[in-house]
Amino acid sequence: MKYISEINRRKTFAIISHPDAGKTTLTEKLLLFGGAIQTAGAVKSNKIKKHATSDFMEIERQRGISVATSVMTFEYQGFLINLLDTPGHKDFAEDTFRTLTAVDSVVLVVDSVNGVEEQTRRLMEVISMRKTPVIVFINKMDRDGKNRFDLLEEIEKELKIQLHPMTVPINSGRDFKGVYDIHEKELVLFTAGTKATEEDMVRINDLSDPVLDARIGNKDAAILREDVELIDGVYGELNVDDYLSGHTAPVFFGSAVNNFGVKEMLDTFIRIAPTPRPRATSTREVKPEEDKFSGFVFKIHANLDPKHRDRIAFLRVCSGRFSRNTYYHHVRLDKDVRFSNPYSFMARQKDVIEEAYPGDVVGLFDTGNFKIGDTITEGEDFYYTGIPSFSPEIFKEVINKDPMKTKQLEKGLMQLTDEGVAQLFTQHGGNKKIIGCVGDLQFEVIQYRLLQEYGASVQMNTLPFYKACWISSDDPKKLQEFIKYKLANIAEDKDGHLVYLAQSEWFLNTERTNNPGIEFHFTSEIHKS
Ligand code: G4P
Repeated sequence: MKYISEINRRKTFAIISHPDAGKTTLTEKLLLFGGAIQTAGAVKSNKIKKHATSDFMEIERQRGISVATSVMTFEYQGFLINLLDTPGHKDFAEDTFRTLTAVDSVVLVVDSVNGVEEQTRRLMEVISMRKTPVIVFINKMDRDGKNRFDLLEEIEKELKIQLHPMTVPINSGRDFKGVYDIHEKELVLFTAGTKATEEDMVRINDLSDPVLDARIGNKDAAILREDVELIDGVYGELNVDDYLSGHTAPVFFGSAVNNFGVKEMLDTFIRIAPTPRPRATSTREVKPEEDKFSGFVFKIHANLDPKHRDRIAFLRVCSGRFSRNTYYHHVRLDKDVRFSNPYSFMARQKDVIEEAYPGDVVGLFDTGNFKIGDTITEGEDFYYTGIPSFSPEIFKEVINKDPMKTKQLEKGLMQLTDEGVAQLFTQHGGNKKIIGCVGDLQFEVIQYRLLQEYGASVQMNTLPFYKACWISSDDPKKLQEFIKYKLANIAEDKDGHLVYLAQSEWFLNTERTNNPGIEFHFTSEIHKS
């Protein structure tokens, strides 16, 4: 329990949203509160702009910039907060999914005008699977959005999570007057573009107080009283345990661009968000307060300068204390590794660090030793589990255009897929290399990087598959029969696990019906318990 005070002051989380809902803006406001940045606009470069969606070089360039802001650390009310960035672009959704394995909680931003959008739905599936605690921030209340109760209902239904309003909005759009903070019993008045001052905070212990009418008018005061009564009746006090177990999500209404409602959310986050929690491994549950260090790699970022092929592996510390220049055990490679320049990420600069504690993310220079999901310990053999590898949806065969560069191509494919840019499959019983991605953009990235970084020129031929499913069976004979029968659709992933490549949903359903003894999995956990 040596490091308990360090552990108890850390909160590691991610903000997720559909692009354009306001994640960057909210991030910026939080950093301003934490004093990590001084001016608005400092985080903007982090964002992949809409117009760049067809220009992958621009996206990669921006992703390069975003390495520096991949983890933003700031202090607030004595707590050390690690905010992990998640790419908004849908083609990098896998990156986001993996980042979610490295956090202890999330803040979900929903646009009050557009409500729940596709990407949010997918992200929430992963979050619910892992029972990660969620706080919801309904943004853009200064715009004419959906009705507050309709929004709550929509979010509850779409995201299959119970909501608990912490603030109640007074109108929206042009008539937006502010929010009533149910927990603090405070009315916070809205003035566009300015930070709420002391004067804008009106403490109202009793809602029948005529001060309420004086400040927001009789009509809105009456509506607010009704709203609060309704919400109190339905929801009562927030049960923090329900939040921590991922069953209930506290909800805040605000406007990030106007820095409105952000502080209320941050103060609640500080009060209830979890500090680093125990984590499952292949052998046992590891507690953060254990003496011995352990952690896992959840993301690898390549150096975009072709002259330097080094990469940065992002390691989440899960237990004990990580120290610079100390030998640790790389479980998969069964070898000792030492890091002379590990660094932490601040909003603007990278700093070499001497030590890190559970909840922290450390950047490690890597020359090809790491793969996503790798575990580092002080000697014990186990893997952190629950780091998903998702079923790709677009498949291409890689054709080598320059036989002299076969070795470079193989190396490039191995390294790029270790980074998690895409997944590599090899035809079962053959040598055909197949790349699977969730977004089209990654193929362009791979083709470009193979040429630039490895000198390998390739052609990519689209294959008529729609999904890759990992297959297994308790009956080896049945599995063999299935492989024989579907040989043209069977491949192996990088770890030698069998994969069935289905041409269409119809084929997939038919094979599932016809082969009850075979299990079809849509995600493959990199390491299983
Ligand atoms: P993202 O990271 O989730 O993609 O969204 P981002 O914060 O970049 O916000 C998307 C757009 O929404 C931005 O406008 C931003 O200024 C605006 N926005 C964020 N919060 C609010 C809010 O509370 N109210 C209103 N009305 N707008 C908000 P943009 O025009 O795309 O970019 P910019 O020119 O402002 O940089």
